[in-house]
Amino acid sequence: MDKASSAVTIRDVRESDAPQLARLLVGIGWFSALKSMTLEEIEANVQHQLGELARAARSSTLVAETPDGSIVGYCTVHWLTCLFLPGPEGYLSDLFLLPDSRGKGIGRLLLDRIVADAEARGAHRLMLLNGRHRESYQRGFYTKNGWEERDSFANFVYRVSRA
Ligand SMILES: CC(C)(COP(=O)(O)OP(=O)(O)OC[C@H]1O[C@@H](n2cnc3c(N)ncnc32)[C@H](O)[C@@H]1OP(=O)(O)O)[C@@H](O)C(=O)NCCC(=O)NCCS
Repeated sequence: MDKASSAVTIRDVRESDAPQLARLLVGIGWFSALKSMTLEEIEANVQHQLGELARAARSSTLVAETPDGSIVGYCTVHWLTCLFLPGPEGYLSDLFLLPDSRGKGIGRLLLDRIVADAEARGAHRLMLLNGRHRESYQRGFYTKNGWEERDSFANFVYRVSRA
């Protein structure tokens, strides 16, 4: 295991993590829905979404924390029930690390924990979307960790909000 990742703890998220998670999302810089919001509004939104996740209780959010208490990354998996599957499908909607914490084995630690959770829940499979233009796709992050790309499905979205 990489030295940096061995010092990182993967733990369940807490509502008090909202300020650090808001700064992490601003640092990632990809999300158009957040562009018109102040940091306080983003923090309030993260707090609200964490509450929603806790109420739904059909999802797991994990954070990667260094020994000094800094959150350097997080992931969320939603456990979906489908009538045509023998067990839940885990949808990995978020997996983000701060730029300085990438390439040190922490993403792999989070994925390993997600797979262990999926096995413990009797899940059928996990799935995610990965932009082909992203470095993670081009460097084969998921395939190196045992995930298979499906080329037989198209991905559609319906834009309810234009934000
Ligand atoms: C993708 C991501 C979660 C991977 O976690 P990580 O801790 O950086 O990756 P690990 O160190 O565990 O694994 C190493 C592998 O990750 C990939 N990787 C390493 N650095 C990376 C970087 N800066 N950006 C993207 N992928 C990277 C490579 O495939 C690497 O293998 P290689 O060294 O043989 O090329 C992380 O880099 C990240 O948050 N990137 C930006 C956000 C993102 O793309 N999220 C995924 C959306 S689907």
